[in-house]
Amino acid sequence: VDERLVEDKLSQLSLVEKIGQLCQETAECADMDALRERIRGGKVGSLILASTPFAGSEAQVCLTVAELNELQRVAVEESRRGVPLLFGRDIIHGHRTVFPVPLGQACAWNLELIEACSAMAALEASRAGVHWTFSPMLDIARDPRWGRVVEGYGEDPFYVGECGAAVIRGYQNVATGSMKSQGKLIACAKHFIGYGAAEGGRDYNTTEITEHSLYNIYVPPFERALAEGCMTVMSAFNEINGESASGSRRLLSGILKERLRFQGFVVSDWASVWEMIEHGLAADESDAARIAMHAGVDMEMVTTTYLDCLEALHAAGQLPMERIDDAVRRVLRIKLAYGLFESPLTSVSVASDLVQTQTEARRLARQAVQESVVLLKNEKEILPLGRKEQSLLLVGPLLHERDALLGTWAMDGNPEDVCSYSDAARAEWSSDQLLMSDERASMDQMLAYAQAQDVNRLDAVIVFVGEPATRSGENHCITEIELPDGQVELVEGLAKLECPLIVVVTSGRPLVLERVIDCASALVFNFHGGVESGTGLLDVLVGRVDATGRLPVSFPKTTGQIPIYYNRKRVGRPWAGAYLNMDAEPQFTFGAGLSYTDFELEGATLDKINYQAGEDIQLNVSITNTGQRSGVAQLQIYAEDLVSSSSRPKRFLVGFLRSHLDVGQCEAVDYTIPSERLSFVNRSQDRVIEPGEFRLYLGFDASCEMMVPFNISR
Ligand code: IFM
Repeated sequence: VDERLVEDKLSQLSLVEKIGQLCQETAECADMDALRERIRGGKVGSLILASTPFAGSEAQVCLTVAELNELQRVAVEESRRGVPLLFGRDIIHGHRTVFPVPLGQACAWNLELIEACSAMAALEASRAGVHWTFSPMLDIARDPRWGRVVEGYGEDPFYVGECGAAVIRGYQNVATGSMKSQGKLIACAKHFIGYGAAEGGRDYNTTEITEHSLYNIYVPPFERALAEGCMTVMSAFNEINGESASGSRRLLSGILKERLRFQGFVVSDWASVWEMIEHGLAADESDAARIAMHAGVDMEMVTTTYLDCLEALHAAGQLPMERIDDAVRRVLRIKLAYGLFESPLTSVSVASDLVQTQTEARRLARQAVQESVVLLKNEKEILPLGRKEQSLLLVGPLLHERDALLGTWAMDGNPEDVCSYSDAARAEWSSDQLLMSDERASMDQMLAYAQAQDVNRLDAVIVFVGEPATRSGENHCITEIELPDGQVELVEGLAKLECPLIVVVTSGRPLVLERVIDCASALVFNFHGGVESGTGLLDVLVGRVDATGRLPVSFPKTTGQIPIYYNRKRVGRPWAGAYLNMDAEPQFTFGAGLSYTDFELEGATLDKINYQAGEDIQLNVSITNTGQRSGVAQLQIYAEDLVSSSSRPKRFLVGFLRSHLDVGQCEAVDYTIPSERLSFVNRSQDRVIEPGEFRLYLGFDASCEMMVPFNISR
């Protein structure tokens, strides 16, 4: 953006109009005439579109393109300086075409796919008049009781950063032309910072994060997002080390804007400025506005402390014009960069364009489900099933579900667009091959129905269990991460039929599955998959595609093991420290997942043994498909820093790649590990690579054992 343009626009605005740029209101408010009047007066910088058009009988109507254009017209033509409004909406995992939830997309370990899904979401949403999405969520969450674990990309800072960067590329990147004209969205990295560390997994809760963890765990995904050009950042709700994250000058100005050199603008979370009063950190609205502005929140979401108090704060000498100008500059810079001044209105899409987009979007959604499904157990290779199966019995509370499969934050998704598991099964097998429990059957009735069948005529039972979409997401936390009531008993009852039992679990968080695993011949895990949940899952069940999904998060054996994550630090007594009643190992570790074939690694070598600090590491390794089917090897590369001045994880992810291999095929892959991936932030807050001995570990999950040593010298 030409900074002279920013200055020119800024210089035209009165104080009231400047403050207006810093205020975001809801678009679906009770008094639209009053809203138009405020827009006319230059008192609104942005509108958040927050309603849900497909919410059943209580549906609110989300504004149409024509209605948005009309509000925009008022801003551009009837306000004194004609600064266009920015329309924001939570486009979290798709717009009308709902893709797997972020945690599901992360299972694919396929950044191009994640980017493509985000680009499609941007295209659809921008055609509906949206300019700005509040995504990606880059919070590291080590507590799956927290409902928002579903919105993130897992437990590893490097992997979360890479996924976030892919999402940002998908939303924002244009080859030519303006972002707006190319159907792009402005991204928003959230929630800065530490929101995922909420005590006890309770939403909006207190967080205690040391400097060491802040810089090495929570900040890196944001650093990566900014390097990718993320244009906005959302400040978090939570209290952190005695401050509100939305009122912390140290975090927002010190770390985000100065240390990380963020040039875009910071928007608060919904009412998080005002909530400082509830935190007991601000006396009243004026105090909250003052603290947030000084901290570095440039735009206030929904509450009106800025609108109501900034002018008086300035007049009273408590808020310098430099800070107001800085905030406004940041907002104008983003509006200019997006192309909003050139084309403030959204054109009404041509129907043929929409149909074409939808076909491509559904194809992509199906691929995303195929790649996010994780096969966790496959005894006697019962899967893939194949059409040869004579007779299958399908039961379970999620068998006919549609709403549940959309997942949280699917405001623009229509349940009627969802291909349920039963829809997909009907398309796969003929009716005389399938027995299915009734849509309205209770858990007891499902079991009774299964027990009434002649199991000798069945090849397998498939049970679909899991969480409804409403059991995860914002403010949806739970104490025990078990399956909902009655589902384990259903699975145990089905296991007694003595017929191979395939358990398909669909959820919005990692779950405790120990009892289910014991019962299952095969266990398939699918985070809420969106509109193509059924088709994508069936593609995996029948082996049309390999099972390639790998977990981006560890699954505990019991809720009491939380927090459990692979990249834990070393301890003084590694041989001790388990629980009296249980070991400290997860049920499934980070990166875990089975394929329908087998892969072997051999001959891992580096281009040298001794590197200078700052030199990239060149790895070469051969991967062979030694199984009976073609498939995709998901190679993961971890590092260990043997001695360092601050404690480091026992191992940490430094790379990953996919290799498609036919039966018997061997590929020699070269992989470069950029040196900074070995670095950490030390106690002086400097990012360093300390000389000494390192090891790489290669394999197919975080417990992999193939090891290659190397040294880094000064
Ligand atoms: O984007 C969200 C945020 O993640 C949680 N609070 C509400 C915001 C806007 O809807």
